[in-house]
Amino acid sequence: MDFINEEIEKYCFNHSQNDGPLLQKLERETYEKLEIPQMITGRIEGRFLKFLAGAIGAEKILEIGTFGGYSALSMAEALPEGGSLITCDVDPVAIEFARRYFAQSIHGKKISLMEGPAIESLKSIPGPFDMAFIDADKVNYLNYYEAILPKMRQGGLIIVDNVLWSGRVLDPKDESDFAIHEFNEKVIGDDRVEQVMLTVRDGIYCIRKL
Ligand SMILES: C[S@@+](CC[C@H](N)C(=O)[O-])C[C@H]1O[C@@H](n2cnc3c(N)ncnc32)[C@H](O)[C@@H]1O
Repeated sequence: MDFINEEIEKYCFNHSQNDGPLLQKLERETYEKLEIPQMITGRIEGRFLKFLAGAIGAEKILEIGTFGGYSALSMAEALPEGGSLITCDVDPVAIEFARRYFAQSIHGKKISLMEGPAIESLKSIPGPFDMAFIDADKVNYLNYYEAILPKMRQGGLIIVDNVLWSGRVLDPKDESDFAIHEFNEKVIGDDRVEQVMLTVRDGIYCIRKL
């Protein structure tokens, strides 16, 4: 489901900062070579993530769901020299693709990629983090949230993608639909955080640890 009229989406795209030649090449190649390329965050969400990281002066970022590396590289742009971003993925094809792009970027040296199920990787990743971006398997959203929240600094941001799941949260039918709806219900009732859900793309939950 497209929530936003195509022309309005295009207008917003054209009025968001240019993501530059490397990310544009990454996006083109994602569509040529990776399966389910529409999983890529793309310019509007990527610039939004970079904007947030820059606004809070993030120095340590955690990402669950690397895919081709678009969102990781977008956020890494906002990190200072010496800043770091840890990103987790299970897919060896996407990992090889992302590593190739990290190597071509001046921001790539800030990024460490952890291969394997993120819930396992998280056990050995120390905090505190200024910002986290959750964008992987939906059935684990609540597990990721509970594992990550204690690792966030006070005032740190957890940004979660696809929380509208093409509108299926309104009438959940399969496991992922129910998992996302359950996650959303948990977050709105959680007094450890403040939260705002945005209708950008497929829904972005912005959560701030109190
Ligand atoms: C929606 S894509 C991420 C898109 C990425 N953030 C971007 O901007 O291009 C989801 C990714 O989560 C990964 N993934 C799925 N299950 C996972 C798991 N259990 N642990 C870690 N990564 C997982 C997939 O391999 C896929 O690359």
